[in-house]
Order: sequence, then structure tokens, then C-alpha cells
Amino acid sequence: MPKQIILAAHFPGVNNTTVWSDPASGSHIDFASFVHLARTAERGLFDFFFLAEGLRLREQRGRIHDLDVVGRPDTLTVLAALAAVTTHLGLAGTLNTTFREPYELARQLATLDHLSGGRAAWNVVTTSDAFTGENFRRGGYLDRSLRYERAAEFVRTARELWESWPADPFVGDRDGGRYLDVADPGGFAHHGEQFDIAGHFTVPRTPQVHPVILQAGDSPDGREFAAAGADAIFSRHGTLADGQEFYRDVKARLARHGRHPDDLKIIPGVTFVLGDTDAEAQERAHHIRRQQVSPQTAILLLEQLWNRDLSGLDPDGPLPAVDPDVSADAISRGRAGMYADPVATARQWRALAEEKGLGVRDLVIEVTGRQSFVGTPGRVAEQMNHFVQSDAADGFILVPHLTPGGLDEFVDRVVPLLQERGVFRTRYTGTTLREHLGLRPARTREAAVAG
Ligand SMILES: Cc1cc2nc3c(=O)[nH]c(=O)nc-3n(C[C@H](O)[C@H](O)[C@H](O)COP(=O)(O)O)c2cc1C
Repeated sequence: MPKQIILAAHFPGVNNTTVWSDPASGSHIDFASFVHLARTAERGLFDFFFLAEGLRLREQRGRIHDLDVVGRPDTLTVLAALAAVTTHLGLAGTLNTTFREPYELARQLATLDHLSGGRAAWNVVTTSDAFTGENFRRGGYLDRSLRYERAAEFVRTARELWESWPADPFVGDRDGGRYLDVADPGGFAHHGEQFDIAGHFTVPRTPQVHPVILQAGDSPDGREFAAAGADAIFSRHGTLADGQEFYRDVKARLARHGRHPDDLKIIPGVTFVLGDTDAEAQERAHHIRRQQVSPQTAILLLEQLWNRDLSGLDPDGPLPAVDPDVSADAISRGRAGMYADPVATARQWRALAEEKGLGVRDLVIEVTGRQSFVGTPGRVAEQMNHFVQSDAADGFILVPHLTPGGLDEFVDRVVPLLQERGVFRTRYTGTTLREHLGLRPARTREAAVAG
């Protein structure tokens, strides 16, 4: 039996994958756009719909970075509304553990799981900088070393809350005047380093008991956090060799936590470009990359690495001769920490530009793209399947470049070919997201005790 491919649809909203300047690009705010993409994904029998999180508008050189389409409505509200217009599609929201509280978020996610009949998923992130934190808690941040500590305890606490009600507590005994068959519904007490809370959880057990937990974060701490308890990872490791190395690394960590390799799915974010011939698809891909990286965007992306004002630089000219400024505060805010070693990366970029004779814009186009599957529908289906069967991934979160119509062609032309190969479902066989993903039911405390 070949592995089955997991497919998810990313509504990109704010980033430079999105081509806002294309005449076919629609609103990133109107509910109709969310409905279009979600219904297309469901028509294509996708596993889930995915939203990233950005809680503050990005800035660069002190100005709002509007080339990454500005504006992003609230994730949980959008997902709850989508629950009403879809029937099977999983609904995944990225929600950070640094600026929220477990009681509140556990309640919101449990509510989404009830409203959607077991389709909720939480992509746990710690967020990348203090700039975002200024919106929230005590004017700033949680030290980096404490972020995963808080994240781990946050998820543990949320799981305690989700299990605080017994499985079937309602008796509805009218004659006896008893509604519940439990003395202490939702009772909990969590006394830990990060959270010291006790009381009663107001939301009874949900169809999945625990919403599906995704994790995005790449450091050793992030990988270990995923191995310990997440159901899936949203990764940046989309190419074949890099994907295989990441896959091996993370799956090897699971045994230490008493888990099976199939308990954690690896799902990188990727893009795709289709054409009637491979040459036509390549040409379209070239055009799309130039739309994504305008001359202005090229300079802004370069500044994110160099951490210098490069507004005077010619987008068609050579890269700066000076090295990145690693001593100053980041001039790009809301997207910091993208490069572990900016000076080394800048040197690699310069070497590549020289070797290939590239100016700034062409170099940025070359080095900042995600893994992209480009070709005829047949070639794209074949490549994606090859990645999954060779353990570079368990599936993909597709990031279309056009909102909201960017997934239509994929669903119409690639999904049937994956189905023909027997590697993608031809109908939904379950109702919950856990079932779609082939995950075992949530391992509750009772299940753990029962062995
Ligand atoms: C693929 C991927 C997607 C991410 N998406 C988000 C996001 O939508 N919102 C957010 O605040 N952080 C996001 N992050 C950042 C994580 O929150 C995390 O803070 C960051 O990667 C630092 O953790 P690390 O050192 O383990 O990588 C993402 C990270 C990765 C790798």
C-alpha cells in the first residue's frame, strides 16, 4: 500500500507568496474569500484549511510593510464561521502560547471542535519577537529560553482542561431531577511554574477530545516539543533532500517519547504552478516569482537580512559590498530572527550572485522562494507523490499565490491524478480531522491508565 498524501490549504493572507497586484487577486478580508478557498479545498477532499498568525502589522524602517498584504482578521472567528459552511474539512488555526492563557484558548478551541463536529486543529507557535508582544503582556516578551517551557506547560494544561469532563456525563433524568451523572463536572487544578489555576472548565468533552495539535518551530527545542506530543508539524523543509533529513531527524525523536513514527505527520508548506506543458508552467512560474518579488519587495527582503537601509540600492545592480549589521536592533519588525547567521548567509548570496551573474532582484527571487511544484498536472502529481513515498513529507500545506481562486486549478486537475494513483482519498471516510489524518484517537488519561 503506498502512503496516502495529506493535503491542506493555506489562506496566505499576509506574506510575499501572495500576489496582490494580479487582476485576479481578491480580498484577503471579505468572508467570501475565505468561503471560496475553504469550499474549494473541501471539494478537493482536502484534510484541512490552515491560517497562520500575525498579531501585529509588520514594519520596516519604521513604516508599515504594506507589500505583505496588510490586514488579518481574527483566526478563531474566521474558523468558527467556516465551520458553518463546510462539513468535513478540518479547520486549523495558528495560535501562540506566549501571549495567551490556557483556560481561555482551551475553551475557544473546544468550542470550535463542538461547532465543527470534531474538525478543530491548533498550530502551536511561540512567535518570533517581542515586537508582537508589545500588543499584549507587560509591554513585551518572554525570554526565548522560557518560551518552549511555557508552550509545553500551556499544551499540558489545555489537555487537562479538555479531559476535565467525563466522556458521557449527561443523564437527563427528569423524574429524578438529575441532569448530570457526575459530582464535579469540569473540575481541574493545575499548579505549575507557568500556570497556577484551578476551577471548573465550562465546555464538556468535544468530539475529538483533544483538537489536532500541529507545531511550527524548527529549533532543537521546537522539534523536541513536537516529538513529545504534537500530531503534525508544519515545516519549512520542502525540498527533497532537506525534507528527508528533517523527516528522519524528527521521526527518530518519537521513540524516546514512547510514540510511533506514524503518530506525527510532517507537512511542509509548498507552492505549485500548473501549465498545459512543462515549458508553459515554467514560464508561468517565472512570471509569478517576478510578481511576488517586485523591485521594491526585493529591496525590502534584502534589508531583512542586511539589517540596513538599502532604499538607495539599484534592484538590478549588485548586492551590497558591506556585511549585514548584526549589532543594531532589527529594522524589520514582526518577522525577526529569520536568519540564524546573517553574515554567513549574505556571503553565500553574494557568491551565488557572482557565480550566476544575478542582480539584487533576480538573486532575491532565486533564494527566497518556497519549494514549488511546477509542471503539467501529471508532473506535479508525480513529483508530490515521489516526495511522500520517499519520506520527504507525509503531505503538503499548499500555499496558493492567488487569493481566493488559486486552488481551483489544483483541485480540478491534480487531485484526480493523485486519486488515480491510489494515493489520495476519493471520498471522506471519517468525520473528524483525526480520522482524515489517520491519527489514533486522542490518548486521554483514562486510555493511558487502561494501557
Ligand atoms: C513553518 C513555520 C511557520 C510559522 N508560522 C508562524 C505563524 O504563523 N505565526 C507566528 O507567530 N509564528 C510562526 N512561526 C514561528 C514560530 O512561532 C517560532 O516562534 C519560531 O519558529 C521560533 O521557534 P524555533 O526557534 O523553534 O524555530 C512559524 C515557524 C515555522 C517554522
